[in-house]
This record gives sequence, C-alpha cells and structure tokens, in this order.
Amino acid sequence: MIRRFVPGLKRFVQVRRTRFHSSESPASVVSGETALNIPAVVELENLEKSYRLGKVTVNALRGVTLKLGQAEFMVIMGPSGSGKTTLLNIIGTLDKPTSGRALIDGEDITIMNDGQLTKLRRHKIGFVFQFHNLIPVLTALENVELPLITSGIKRRVSRDRAMELLRRVGLQDRTDHLPDELSGGEQQRVAIARALANHPRIVLADEPTGDLDTQTGFEVVQLMHSVAKQEGSSVVVVTHDPVVAERADRLVEMRDGRITEKVRERLAGEKHTIRAVEPLPPEPGRSLSQPN
Ligand SMILES: Nc1ncnc2c1ncn2[C@@H]1O[C@H](COP(=O)(O)OP(=O)(O)OP(=O)(O)O)[C@@H](O)[C@H]1O
Ligand SMILES: [Mg+2]
Repeated sequence: MIRRFVPGLKRFVQVRRTRFHSSESPASVVSGETALNIPAVVELENLEKSYRLGKVTVNALRGVTLKLGQAEFMVIMGPSGSGKTTLLNIIGTLDKPTSGRALIDGEDITIMNDGQLTKLRRHKIGFVFQFHNLIPVLTALENVELPLITSGIKRRVSRDRAMELLRRVGLQDRTDHLPDELSGGEQQRVAIARALANHPRIVLADEPTGDLDTQTGFEVVQLMHSVAKQEGSSVVVVTHDPVVAERADRLVEMRDGRITEKVRERLAGEKHTIRAVEPLPPEPGRSLSQPN
C-alpha cells in the first residue's frame, strides 16, 4: 500500500487559540451546530459510507454528524484517507451514503432520484476542484457562463453575470483567454467565478490550492472567502494547507471516517494559530492512495 505524500503536507495540523484582531462573525462552540443563529444549509446526521472491494470493506465514513450554516466558511482537514473527499462528494450529491441522512435546505438528498439531484446540483451547488477542470476550448468568460446557459439563463444576462464575477476575481482583462493562456492561480480564479455563477447555496472545494504555490494559494483562498461572503454562499473547503485553514469560520478535523474534533470555532476577537503534528498511523486495510 502506498502512502500518498504531498510535499509540505506530510504533516497534519492542529490548532490552538490566540488573539485575533479582526471582526469576523462569531460562530457556535456547540458540537454539530451551526454558528449561532445561522440557519443550516446542510445537515448531516450519522452519515456512513462503506465501499466493498471483493472481501474487503472500507468504512470511509463512520457516523458523521455536522451542520453547515448559511454563508459559513468551513474548512475540513485530516490525514489522507480519512474520508474528506467522500464527505464532500456526498454533500455535492455526487455520491450516496450507505446510511444516515443528508439534508440540503431541509430536503433529504439521500432519497432523491437522479433528475432531482441534477436539478439541485445545477441550482444550489458550485464545485472547485484541485485541477480547475475548465473546458480548454472555451474562454474564461465562456467557462463562467456555461453553468448559466445550461440553467436556461438568457445570453445577455449570463454574459453580464459572468463578466461581473470575472471582475470580482480580478480577471476583467483576461475574459477572452483560453485556460492554457492563464496562470494556475488565474485558472483557479476562473473556476471560483464559475462555481459561483448560479448563486449557489453551497460551494464545495476539494484541495483548491493543492496545485498552487503558497502565495498564490493564499490569494485564491482570500478571494474565494470574500466573494462567497459577498454572495452569501456557504463554503466547505477540504485542504491540507494551514493557510486555507486560517480563513475558516469553523475548522473541522477528520480521522478514520469520523469528525474527531471541531478544532476551531472562530469566536469574536479570537484567532487560532496552527501547528503541525504527525498524523496517526493508518488503520490496517485502509488505503491511503485514493486520488481526489
Ligand atoms: N470508490 C472507492 N472505492 C473503494 N474505496 C474508496 C473509494 N473512494 C474512497 N475509498 C476509500 O475510502 C477512504 C476515504 O477516501 P477519501 O478519498 O474520502 O479520503 P481523503 O480524506 O479525501 O484523502 P486524501 O487527503 O488523500 O484526498 C480511503 O480509505 C479510500 O481508499
Ligand atoms: Mg481527498
């Protein structure tokens, strides 16, 4: 079994509180709750996900209970193989849990049919992947417009919206560039604009800075944070990057398919520094080579 070592990310992070000098919104300290007085957009109840491969069963999720509040910026960290992508895929309706409930805006997505899920995904969820997944033959503008056009939005409206988003991510001068005529950070900014195009309730990002250098990754996350807050979208970011974790309203740690700790709930006037610690050894039979 090959452990996937990502340079600079071999270590897992843990968090300690220190003073903070910004006026970020307060969040709950109650496990499984959203930030104080914030309505839940996503509610997960005792989610389990098992994969059966021949005689081996992998329990990727083992009872995850979690709420995501409106406009909350949640970061999930954890060792490779701990179930982060599995969890994100279930919230994104790309995969179904083996048991448990998952609600988006109060609707149970685990009992929806494919047609209902496609519609929900199109209107309520935006995705940002590690490798931006932009369509290479479409310009930046056309990539951002695409989800709007497939949702039936009129061309003029979709173009205005796409232009506005590209402006907000600082790419108003790159609208006619094809993806391979953009830098990695610019491509990821286009991907953020695309994810936000349909005014999604939730943006899901799986290691969005994994392919970027530290400074560019920091700028991309800052941007995702500020644009999502302006739009009122909730965000779940999976990352190994402590810099991303610094933006979190709530930082959640996963290990072996469980949420082991709400390691940070941002409180008014407080910030937390992050320190690296060694990961736990993997469970016997657990593959750590799963790609994202
Ligand atoms: N389609 C699948 N079939 C079988 N096992 C799977 C499948 N997808 C994931 N797994 C297993 O489930 C566990 C959780 O995988 P997941 O991809 O969610 O981990 P992760 O926390 O995202 O890891 P990483 O940080 O490496 O991306 C792993 O042990 C993995 O091998
Ligand atoms: Mg993953």
